[in-house]
Amino acid sequence: MKFLINGKEKEYNGSPELSLLKYLRDIEGITSPKDGCAPQASCGACTVELNGKAILSCVTPMSKVENGNVITIEGLEKYKQEVFANAFVEKGGTQCGFCTPGIVMQSKVLLDNNPNPSDDEIKKALNPNLCRCTGYTKIIDSIKYAAEAIRENKEIHKSNIEAKVGKRYPKYDADKLTLGQADFVDDMKFHGMLYSALRFSDHPRARMISINLDKAIREKGVIHILTESDIPGKRILD
Ligand code: FES
Ligand code: FES
Repeated sequence: MKFLINGKEKEYNGSPELSLLKYLRDIEGITSPKDGCAPQASCGACTVELNGKAILSCVTPMSKVENGNVITIEGLEKYKQEVFANAFVEKGGTQCGFCTPGIVMQSKVLLDNNPNPSDDEIKKALNPNLCRCTGYTKIIDSIKYAAEAIRENKEIHKSNIEAKVGKRYPKYDADKLTLGQADFVDDMKFHGMLYSALRFSDHPRARMISINLDKAIREKGVIHILTESDIPGKRILD
């Protein structure tokens, strides 16, 4: 099947059931759409634009992308990237930033269709997008600030930074977080990267006398097992 991603023609012949989110993140290396709950469709962090609509890419199979036009933050024109980044920084709409790229794409589609949305219209559009940090008020302020700039074709400049006591100081890397350019752990990829899992004790309250790894290390695919003995220093204070 063929489709466009950020204006570039792509061809994909893999499983039509693969989610667009997995395709974007794992095959294209586009990590601004985040995986917050896939495939539960409950957080909105994976929001991208498909054929002019904001969609949850974690529950959109590749079969629905055929002949489509997918846009992620990476595909927005530089002007819009800067407007959204600086608006969210200035109004404090980005805290941890995990939800923000999805919210930016949701807002981008909203403003394409409604350049001057009311608070209620913004709230309605943000229905699919969860934010656990901000309380939404600052997100709504940020979207209205970006909307005003886009309507009037104005730029939003970065504020002058005065790192003094009592002065406002923008959150570190908030512009990159807003645009999904700051890597979270799940966004990092290294050559030959291994995946690990925590193994909790079957006994919530017990004294660990010894750990026998013989059987586990022989399991297919197990490369290494780390235990408390790999942690340097003294574990128990006298
Ligand atoms: S990852 Fe898609 S809605 Fe949460
Ligand atoms: S979840 Fe942290 S800024 Fe929204």
